[in-house]
Amino acid sequence: MIAMTESAFGVRSASPAALGITLAAIGRDRPVVFDELMGAPLVLRHQHVSAALRDPATFSTRFYGLGPMSSAMIALDGPEHARRRRIHNRFFSPGATADYARIVEPIARRTFGAPAGSVDLVGALIAEYPMRVFMGLLGVPDDLGPQGLRWVNAIMAWLGAPMDPSLAGPGAAAFAELEAYTTGLVEAERARPTDNLLGRIVQAHVDEGGYSPEAVTVAVVALLLGGFETTVQLLAGTIAALLLNPGALQRVHAQPALLDAALDESLRWAAPTAGLYRLVLRDTEIAGTPLAAGSMVYLAIAAAHFDESVYPAPDEFRLDRPGPHLGFGAGPHYCVGAPLARLEAKAALSALFTAAPRLRLDPAAEPSFHYSARGFPQHGTETLRVLTN
Ligand code: HEM
Repeated sequence: MIAMTESAFGVRSASPAALGITLAAIGRDRPVVFDELMGAPLVLRHQHVSAALRDPATFSTRFYGLGPMSSAMIALDGPEHARRRRIHNRFFSPGATADYARIVEPIARRTFGAPAGSVDLVGALIAEYPMRVFMGLLGVPDDLGPQGLRWVNAIMAWLGAPMDPSLAGPGAAAFAELEAYTTGLVEAERARPTDNLLGRIVQAHVDEGGYSPEAVTVAVVALLLGGFETTVQLLAGTIAALLLNPGALQRVHAQPALLDAALDESLRWAAPTAGLYRLVLRDTEIAGTPLAAGSMVYLAIAAAHFDESVYPAPDEFRLDRPGPHLGFGAGPHYCVGAPLARLEAKAALSALFTAAPRLRLDPAAEPSFHYSARGFPQHGTETLRVLTN
């Protein structure tokens, strides 16, 4: 297999599209290349990425089971995974999720409704938002303060680099504290049932015959971790994409229903999900490149998103693309939180663009989009400085 001398994952740019454009250019010549920085072969063409995501018997998520989330849904396959998905669909289907708008929208207005002057949207507003929403949905008073964010940051840093011993100690300690805190919430919910998200998660486990405080705790912690930095960088990427494409932003202002299309195109163009690792379970090959059982492979979604055989003129940000993207994954592990992520993102964007119709990037402080932003295994930016008036 050909190895890259310099990793495309080192790319930094004011445009969130740069990583995908660079990776796709490599993929036009070679469908699979070994990347030192990612420590795995990169799969770069849409047809191969899409097929591998839909083939869990060959390309597995089991490696997630090595860390603290050993019994989380993402690490499972087959019938047990399908049973967990059924449980989640009881409280996370698009229908069930629509009901959460009454909680999410006021939080979005409180968070994004009055930006003033020159603001770093990521540091000041976006990074606080997913935790506020999650606490609001769970019906937990936001009494954790910055403690909750510290737990999530320590755990995610550990999950992002499980081999780094300096991150394992703080990560494991934070995980134990978050788990103990969540178990307390679950027990209180059992003692006095409510109709909020936590109540629905408990009830869904009871109805499906899988209730135990541990199972519910694992599910709640997984949802918090799965919906945290993903949502931060979805918002940062979408806001940057719209501000860099004023024509599209104008159309969204005139027709707010286009926010859905803007989100989907941002998931493709800004690629907050740069890609996903998979564990190869049996000897196989992709486009003639052998992949051995037991090795890891990286399905480069950002590259697939700029594959011109699927997306005509892929470098352009267009609100009228018919095709689906891979930003929420595909196949059996397709993001179970996608309806909630859409609801959260639309509520935030709508509050922000209504409060600051003249919002624009601050020319004195360009964002820097890159892989591993804020230390998470996501593509995004540490800062997004904007001018509001
Ligand atoms: C609202 C918050 C969210 C929650 C609660 C959430 C939760 C989850 C969970 C539990 C899974 C595992 C599903 C399974 O094993 O079957 C998952 C998968 C995934 N999610 Fe989300 N998610 C959220 C937001 C997002 C966002 C905003 C993105 C993209 C920017 C995203 C991208 C993904 C991807 C790519 C996968 C597939 C992972 C894989 O196959 O390895 N999620 N999500």
